[in-house]
Amino acid sequence: MTLFVHAVAPVLENILLARQTYRIRLHCPELARAIRPGQFVMIRLPGHNDPLLGRPFALYDTVLDDAGQPIALDVVYLVVGKLTGLLAALRPGDHVEIWGPLGNGFPDFHFLDHIALIAGGIGQTPFLAHVRDLLGTRGYGGRPPRRITQRVSLYYGVRTADLAAGVEDFRAAGATVHLATDDGTLGFHGLVTQLLESHAPPQHLVGCGPEPMLRALAQLARRWSVPCHLSLETPMACGIGICFSCVTRVRTAEGWDYRRVCVDGPIFEAASLAWDM
Ligand SMILES: Cc1cc2nc3c(=O)[nH]c(=O)nc-3n(C[C@H](O)[C@H](O)[C@H](O)COP(=O)(O)OP(=O)(O)OC[C@H]3O[C@@H](n4cnc5c(N)ncnc54)[C@H](O)[C@@H]3O)c2cc1C
Ligand code: FES
Repeated sequence: MTLFVHAVAPVLENILLARQTYRIRLHCPELARAIRPGQFVMIRLPGHNDPLLGRPFALYDTVLDDAGQPIALDVVYLVVGKLTGLLAALRPGDHVEIWGPLGNGFPDFHFLDHIALIAGGIGQTPFLAHVRDLLGTRGYGGRPPRRITQRVSLYYGVRTADLAAGVEDFRAAGATVHLATDDGTLGFHGLVTQLLESHAPPQHLVGCGPEPMLRALAQLARRWSVPCHLSLETPMACGIGICFSCVTRVRTAEGWDYRRVCVDGPIFEAASLAWDM
């Protein structure tokens, strides 16, 4: 049975990783034990009614105690508006309201030689735990570690160098990191999908980032005939399937239909998305 946790969690750390980008560490052992890579949590501030609703954030990674038990989880967030602005002011000992795990998480793969993760903007956040899971260095959601791929590459594109957040975390986790910036201040000068295209195709692609990037990735996957999964960052109100504010179109036998990203996603097969219908 899937565990659902709703808690008021103390902040253990809230540190600046890159421009306007923070990593917040929340003490919540039950949630840290249950959550899997690709799933997300909803966060709001207790005692605040603006914003009233929670906001969705991907699991960045879980934090283990000395005995190897998950006790906390990390979320990496970019300050873009009301809630993220308030989160940036939190200090250790403050509290957030958090609930989850939510969403489907990344799919199970059969053993592969090479998986490429493609991130744009703040889209790297679901991938750190995924790298550890794929390389079998950490188990999640109560599942023991098992290696699923020989190697993982992260292709990570941001507008400019000082927005690149957590690059050393990905290297430390064992990913080969390829960086791209729109203005050429770090790594490849151009789009992350152009950088990816200059390498040999991997056996599986997984993307997270702005929709134009995801569309370009889906096209490349089709051209390469490589399977591709995408993690969508559609704005959400309830996060639990009630409000239908998060729908996306998917292909069906009859044409297309809506799916709720919060419960049917956020991970979808790229080929199933009906963006052009
Ligand atoms: C499944 C999922 C996982 C996510 N994981 C992360 C994460 O790990 N780190 C992170 O920083 N963000 C993540 N996001 C996006 C995050 O939820 C939004 O940035 C957040 O809701 C902004 O809240 P706010 O109150 O600060 O901004 P608001 O005051 O609500 O909005 C500020 C501005 O941002 C725009 N905006 C809000 N949400 C989105 C969105 N999802 N896409 C595009 N524009 C948006 C609004 O239209 C507005 O212009 C995720 C979203 C989803 C759906
Ligand atoms: S956010 Fe309410 S149904 Fe998805």
